[in-house]
Order: sequence, then C-alpha cells, then structure tokens
Amino acid sequence: MLSKEQIFSHLQEMSNQISKAYFNSPKVIVLVLLGGAKIFADDLFKLIDDDKFQIIYIKASSYNGGLKTGGNVEISGLDGINLNKEDVLIVDDIYDSGNTMAAILDLIQPRKPNSVRTCVLLFKQIERKRQINIDFRAATVPDRFVVGYGLDYKGQYRDLPYVAVLEVINNNA
Ligand code: IMP
Ligand code: MG
Repeated sequence: MLSKEQIFSHLQEMSNQISKAYFNSPKVIVLVLLGGAKIFADDLFKLIDDDKFQIIYIKASSYNGGLKTGGNVEISGLDGINLNKEDVLIVDDIYDSGNTMAAILDLIQPRKPNSVRTCVLLFKQIERKRQINIDFRAATVPDRFVVGYGLDYKGQYRDLPYVAVLEVINNNA
C-alpha cells in the first residue's frame, strides 16, 4: 500500500508541518503510543531533529482484549508526568475507530495542557461516531487491515519497512 520511499517522503512533509506548527513553542511533550507508533515516531523525530521535542512512550490497551468495538481503553505510562501548561502532541500509528485517541484526550484535557495536537501515520477512511481532529497525518488509507512499519497483526509484521494490506484478514472479515 505504501512503499518505504513513499513513507519517507510523507514523513519529510510531516516533519516540516510539525516544525512549523511548534515554531513558537519552547518545549513539546510528545506522547508516543506503544508499540505501533514507535518505529514511525523514531523516524519522524530524527527528521525533525530538535531537542525541544521530549518523547514519552505510553501504552494503550483495550479491556475487551483488543476487539475493535467496545471502546474501553486503558492508558498507562502517564502517571507523574506533568502536562499542565505544556504543549502536548499525541502520536499513534493509525486512526481507526478513534476510541484510543478519544480515551487519551479524555485523560489529558483535565490536566489543563496549553495545547493538544494529534498525529498519526495512517488515517483510515471510515464512518465514525465521534470525530476527533487529527492535526497531522502522513497518509490516508481505505478501510482494510494493514500491517508493517510498526503496525502488527498479533505481534507479527511490525518490522516490515513498508505498509501492506493483510489479505488473509480482509478476506475473512
Ligand atoms: P482505534 O482505537 O479503533 O482508532 O484503533 C487504533 C488502534 O488499533 C491502533 O493504535 C492500532 O494499534 C490498532 N489498529 C487499528 N486498525 C489497524 C490496522 O489496520 N492494522 C493494525 N492495527 C490496527
Ligand atoms: Mg495502537
């Protein structure tokens, strides 16, 4: 779906957008969602190459064992991290139902940050109950199950240097 070269050129564009958006910020707290967004975020922030971006890894897991519907998302890794008056950027691999982003935003907003922005590698084109503003997206993809470049299927395929459609899942769906 996306070659290594295509991903790289999308990331270059995204790194410029993010640098511009935070030009006046002295410090940005970047919350990277493990494990899907790690590879993407590491490459992106190498391109941005600015120490003011402080990267923190957090984890989101569904109470229902990872099923897509349900929406009970548990977030860990945010304890003891001050977000008050900070500029916060949330980075995830893919924006699908939006449950994960919604849960993180609900947790972050009461801590009164100065600003919150969202960034994803892939934006899935589907109908959603609750729309969340995604500030930065590298690419838009159709409603298929994709793997690679950090995205997994049961822990597999994260290490692929490109993004591919996993046919076996999509054909059984
Ligand atoms: P959401 O909460 O439904 O938006 O789902 C977001 C999370 O589900 C992402 O952080 C991914 O971990 C996972 N996910 C959703 N769609 C895919 C996919 O097509 N491939 C791999 N993981 C996915
Ligand atoms: Mg994820």
